[in-house]
Amino acid sequence: DRAGLLKAREALGIGAGASSGGSALALVPTMGALHEGHRSLIRLARERAAHVAVSIFVNPLQFGPAEDYSRYPRTFDADLEVCAAEGVGVVFAPSVQDMYLPDRQVGVSAGEMGSVVEGEFRPGHLDGVLTVVLKLFNLVQPDVAVFGRKDAQQLAMIRRMVADLNLPVSIVGGPTVREPDGLALSSRNRYLSPDDRTAALALSRALEAGSGRRAPEEIRGAALAVLGAEPSLAVDYLVLVDPATFAEVGDDYAGEAILAVAARVGSTRLIDNVTVDVR
Ligand code: PAJ
Repeated sequence: DRAGLLKAREALGIGAGASSGGSALALVPTMGALHEGHRSLIRLARERAAHVAVSIFVNPLQFGPAEDYSRYPRTFDADLEVCAAEGVGVVFAPSVQDMYLPDRQVGVSAGEMGSVVEGEFRPGHLDGVLTVVLKLFNLVQPDVAVFGRKDAQQLAMIRRMVADLNLPVSIVGGPTVREPDGLALSSRNRYLSPDDRTAALALSRALEAGSGRRAPEEIRGAALAVLGAEPSLAVDYLVLVDPATFAEVGDDYAGEAILAVAARVGSTRLIDNVTVDVR
């Protein structure tokens, strides 16, 4: 609970914040089922701050009614071992009752940017993410918070929230950690059968193919050709978007863009993205 969290902060000498000469605290928000991707964020956090806190909370607010909230993997004991091995000073793992009042009313709206791309397929998802992340920032009061670029729209929306709501926290993005064959690590990968896993490789191969091109139409075309060759993938979207706004880029766009894909393999939904240099 919050009292325990404050006690843990005090025991570590966290309080004043880096800017006023105290020792900085970095937060890595997670939903647990920790893997190498999470570990890489924890290491990045350790480079940025003297103390690292990891939150573990499967946030019901960001799951749709037909989504996998109840079957989301929960591996708390193993997660604690990972945190201990990575030198994490505080693990904040509230219950749903700790986090949400039964009569809660107020939350964060992700706005129009929250209804495109992922938001189109997961209505309310980004509202739920921003609401819990703001609550975690208020509870833990980190100087720095670290998020993965694997969830690129989530990261962009958190940066947007920090700017729009003047939140006193620095956001750091970490690179996507992949298996040797290209599959982006995800807590949901454990649901993939061997055949599903082979099909899932088409996501990273499609992004790889797209990132070898320079014109928007060629980038999309090369990626779609790879996705189309994998019959057991049901593609939700393949888009080339502005990294800050997640608006689709036009044919005259130049600069960095994000090529993002979401697809279902069996009953597992996977997302991935890469940064592409568009010219
Ligand atoms: P979760 O899916 O547990 O992810 C926690 C953090 O790990 C996120 O910032 C995510 O982008 C990052 N991450 C996941 N897979 C990664 C990979 N392969 N490489 C690098 N980073 C990776 O994202 C969430 O939880 C939730 O939405 C949360 C932000 C905790 C709010 O509930």
